[in-house]
Amino acid sequence: MTQAKMMHLCGFLSSGPVVHSHAVWRNPHHETKFLTLSHYAEVARTLERGYFDFLFFPDRLAIGDRFGGSPEIGLKHADQDATRLDPVPILGALAAVTKHLGLGATRSTSYDAPYNLAREFATLDHLSDGRAAWNVVTSMNDAEALNFGDALHLGHAERYDRADEFMEVVFKLWDSWQEDALILDRQNGIYADPSKVHYVDYKGKWFKSRGPLNVPRSPQGRPIIIQAGASGRGKEFAARWSDVIFGLQPGVEQMRKFSADIRSALDAQGRPRSAAKVLMAIMPFVGHSRSEAQDKRDLHDSLIDPIVGLSTLGGHINEDFSTMPLDASISSLESQGTRGNLAALKSIGGGKSITLREAGQIYGRGVMCPRFVGTGADIAQEMIEIFKSDVADGFIVSPAFVPDAFQDFVDLVVPELQQRGYFRTAYNDRTLRNRLNS
Ligand SMILES: Cc1cc2nc3c(=O)[nH]c(=O)nc-3n(C[C@H](O)[C@H](O)[C@H](O)COP(=O)(O)O)c2cc1C
Repeated sequence: MTQAKMMHLCGFLSSGPVVHSHAVWRNPHHETKFLTLSHYAEVARTLERGYFDFLFFPDRLAIGDRFGGSPEIGLKHADQDATRLDPVPILGALAAVTKHLGLGATRSTSYDAPYNLAREFATLDHLSDGRAAWNVVTSMNDAEALNFGDALHLGHAERYDRADEFMEVVFKLWDSWQEDALILDRQNGIYADPSKVHYVDYKGKWFKSRGPLNVPRSPQGRPIIIQAGASGRGKEFAARWSDVIFGLQPGVEQMRKFSADIRSALDAQGRPRSAAKVLMAIMPFVGHSRSEAQDKRDLHDSLIDPIVGLSTLGGHINEDFSTMPLDASISSLESQGTRGNLAALKSIGGGKSITLREAGQIYGRGVMCPRFVGTGADIAQEMIEIFKSDVADGFIVSPAFVPDAFQDFVDLVVPELQQRGYFRTAYNDRTLRNRLNS
């Protein structure tokens, strides 16, 4: 059976000890060598064996210290910000050990410069022959601000205004070389056609850049843009600029709402629904039998400490939970960091507000990724139901252990998706952009 529309899959990996799951580095079966290239190369090869669309690294620009005003808890037990290698050099290295896998990473519009960013991703796009993707974030908290000389993180609306301008500059820089500007006529000594390389002369409120970029137009022209805004303003931004929109919602109903909002936001931007693929995060626990899958989940969950989860949550929403009682309800919390995450967390519990302890446990287990537990066939079926109901164009696979969870997924879930006609059995597209649009 062949299906006209195929699912898209992204492998989610952090360049540190914790992904969404805070138990990743505590894998009882083997060390997790997140400071070595071989660790990342193994994951990339596994995902390529499973025909994933792309591998993605999130990022943050500070060790967190929101919990008690100190990094102690986060460093001692490893919260999500305890360590992050810079993901972009990792992608450069992975370009050399893969041929097809898309390569995505986060960079921040609040703490980066448009020229550097445009240059970095155009370079990655050349080196990978059209597989580069940038996840645009506005960053989350004051710890990040302090590393760049600012006392406080910019306010929510200002961050997104600055991000809009950042995107305008970056797109102009990427477009500063016309497609046919590079001549490379060795015989006549003509390198490029200067009439096809342009100043951009951008002057905005936040940024000025003269251009042109000193990197010729890359295979995708503009690398793939990913975004994950979850607030109203965030979704508007995502709908304006993105090729891929990430969602992290705790259940199918919340996914449905998120997707509907994104569609309206795309409409408001005058872009068709197909212009941006919506990928929803899931955390699979796959076994040869259901009981094996449940055992994997239980072992994983036994390694979670709710306090470390709260340390990460505090960093995400810019709040100190250290003096609040663990049995307090989260209903009155407000966020100065990411708004969507807190709203999603409040939606858990079916009308009854969860406590801080429960929030810490949920965050520690997997931030809020819905967990799919079962055989390959069970999990494939669950994914297909969501995909068929048009809630998502695909999924972000967030691992419980690395590389174990990716290996299980590729060996047990991917064949089931392929057999049912919902996932590719070969790579047929040259660039990541072509693959996402096919
Ligand atoms: C799958 C996924 C990946 C994300 N990756 C990052 C990241 O790497 N760095 C970051 O600062 N924020 C990251 N975010 C957070 C978003 O960029 C955004 O700040 C958040 O969804 C809240 O947006 P809002 O302020 O519009 O609610 C991610 C969110 C999701 C759902």
